[in-house]
Amino acid sequence: MSRSPKDFFMPLAIGAPDPLRNIPMKPSRMIHFMNAANERMRARVPQMLEQVDVLLGNLEDAVSVDEKVNAREGFIEVVKANDFKANEVGCWTRVNALDSPWFLDDLYRLVSEIGNDLDVIMIPKVLGVEDIHYVDRLLAQLEAKYNIVKPLLIHAILETGGGVVAVDDIALASPRMQGMSFGPADLAASRRMKTTRVGGGHPFYRVRTDPNPLDPDSERATSQQDPWHYSIARMVDACVNAGIYPYYGPFGDISDPDGCEDQFRSAFLLGCVGAWSLHPSQIDIARTVFSPDPDEVILAKRILDAMPDGSGVAMVDGKMQDDATWKQAKVIYDLAVMIAQRDPEIAKSYGI
Ligand code: GLV
Ligand code: MG
Repeated sequence: MSRSPKDFFMPLAIGAPDPLRNIPMKPSRMIHFMNAANERMRARVPQMLEQVDVLLGNLEDAVSVDEKVNAREGFIEVVKANDFKANEVGCWTRVNALDSPWFLDDLYRLVSEIGNDLDVIMIPKVLGVEDIHYVDRLLAQLEAKYNIVKPLLIHAILETGGGVVAVDDIALASPRMQGMSFGPADLAASRRMKTTRVGGGHPFYRVRTDPNPLDPDSERATSQQDPWHYSIARMVDACVNAGIYPYYGPFGDISDPDGCEDQFRSAFLLGCVGAWSLHPSQIDIARTVFSPDPDEVILAKRILDAMPDGSGVAMVDGKMQDDATWKQAKVIYDLAVMIAQRDPEIAKSYGI
């Protein structure tokens, strides 16, 4: 049995802030990962805050066991020493997994020290709604204890077979749910996929055309397919259904900016709003890809202008426009307006 729907927006602990009824949409084209155990990275934070939409203190994978505590305490230091809000940069963290020896202290230290500055907590390796319910209740208790004024939001990483099976319910599991990121590395391992890559295509995953009956020995063309298409589309639908935001996660081959750009763009086209940047070189890729293309924005505006009240029929460049295409244009134009407010350089390319 689940709780009564009328109690869904009740705080889970006496004194915790009321849950949000809507999750605000903010530019989050790139979620930039930092390991705050690294002093050089900490020193670069003021510069990073001028470049990224979201800065995330990573405590989980890629942080070695002997750095775990320093990454956590270093991120607390970073958040205390820098003004994320002045730069309108989202302050996120990825804590260790629920079955690790660090998770509880991660949550306790972060909420007690920087709970009023933190926006979103990423939970890795989510298996089902029970993981979200557990974190939900714990956060409410910590919020009450440490006088946190606005609810901390949860972002689940979709990176287990179980998580994909339960993705619709995970998205709806709590009013704290802000969104989800797609985690191709852990997901590949969980599914026993035979790849060591982190995102992108794979040369072995392809389809071949039929033999030509008139020339059976001729070469048959093959093309690489996208092994992630199904799961990313599942995630997008689950998020849209719940009023939360889907993101592509990591692209591991830093030396392949083209592959990264293609992976990010496919995710953007399918409905994702951003991706992780694991290296400074991926920041600009995400910035370009997750800001709508200027030509598309200009076309979208022409469609909206051709049908000012969003109904009826109009022709634009020989293509029929109706209520549905008006809505498609509005998705692109509204996003462009939001991005333009954040990014003056991109605003210029839109003429906004
Ligand atoms: C991200 O965490 C992944 O496992 O791909
Ligand atoms: Mg992972």
